[in-house]
Amino acid sequence: MTTRHTLLVLGHPRTDSLTAQVAAHLHARLKDAGGTVDVLDLYAEGFDPRMTPADEPDWEDREKRYSPEVHAHMERILAADDILIVFPVWWFAPPAIVKGWIDRVWNYGFAYGRSTPRLAGKRMLWLGLAAGSAADFEKDGLGASMDTQLRAGIAQYCGIAGAAVALLHGTELSGVPEELRPERVRTILASAEAALDAHLD
Ligand SMILES: Cc1cc2nc3c(=O)[nH]c(=O)nc-3n(C[C@H](O)[C@H](O)[C@H](O)COP(=O)(O)O)c2cc1C
Repeated sequence: MTTRHTLLVLGHPRTDSLTAQVAAHLHARLKDAGGTVDVLDLYAEGFDPRMTPADEPDWEDREKRYSPEVHAHMERILAADDILIVFPVWWFAPPAIVKGWIDRVWNYGFAYGRSTPRLAGKRMLWLGLAAGSAADFEKDGLGASMDTQLRAGIAQYCGIAGAAVALLHGTELSGVPEELRPERVRTILASAEAALDAHLD
């Protein structure tokens, strides 16, 4: 890994969640590799995912000045070489707080709506933790639809060509006997590292 600056976005309400553990593990790994990391824990920072009139796009003015909060988030995105979003899969999608961050911050004139996209050249990895198995996600094309929505519908639409979606399966530990959990967690963290290495190394 090179010395890159990563914006690590976390979208889970519990600090002791497996999702938070995966984010912390990857944070440490990125730093060990000599990179710098800006952790954006959306819940901890109290991000409000609800759209406001101030942050709604004005289709006739792509230079619109949005709220100061949104512009601060835009600066954090611009500063990043890589964007890593770690989230639990809820209803085969990222949680509302992550969706609201995209809705409000990845705005017209900033993330899209220019002939030269400002986010072009960045890399992006959506890393989701899912209770279901890979086979569950093959049914009805649910995994493919997540890939299409997040990689093509958001990242690629915003000019980020090298984006990827990776899912860690079987991450709900409540049904796993206590003595087997540490090994399961180790396996999940190793899969998370592999996804990071494959897409943001
Ligand atoms: C509201 C909600 C919706 C969920 N939807 C899905 C889903 O669509 N597919 C899936 O595989 N797991 C789903 N799950 C399970 C989570 O992905 C699972 O709990 C997660 O792996 C656990 O990680 P955590 O300990 O960090 O919360 C859902 C969980 C919640 C709370």
